[in-house]
Amino acid sequence: MTILGQWVAACASDALEQEEAFRFDHEGRTFVIVRSPEGEYFAIDGHCSHEKVHLAGGIVDGHIIECPKHFGAFDYRSGEARRLPACIDLRSYDVKVESGMVFIRL
Ligand code: FES
Repeated sequence: MTILGQWVAACASDALEQEEAFRFDHEGRTFVIVRSPEGEYFAIDGHCSHEKVHLAGGIVDGHIIECPKHFGAFDYRSGEARRLPACIDLRSYDVKVESGMVFIRL
């Protein structure tokens, strides 16, 4: 049986420019929310899967977020690891925008 998570407000939608990342912490977990060049929002786990470094400090380029420590890279739309030394995919989360707020489903 699939248990659907709850929608949690993460930030104001205008808090992020295109190709910008935002750190969101919730109940002991951490996430990174990214706004794409097309203006869509995505959310994945906040820590790089190589070492425990937060991705929100990394550069967003197109649909890629680069880890600030060793420059591993992830596709933030899916969480897929795209460049070594990061080789383990991150979990991605559903996102919606309502009333000027970005929500992620946890
Ligand atoms: S900590 Fe992210 S690539 Fe090493």
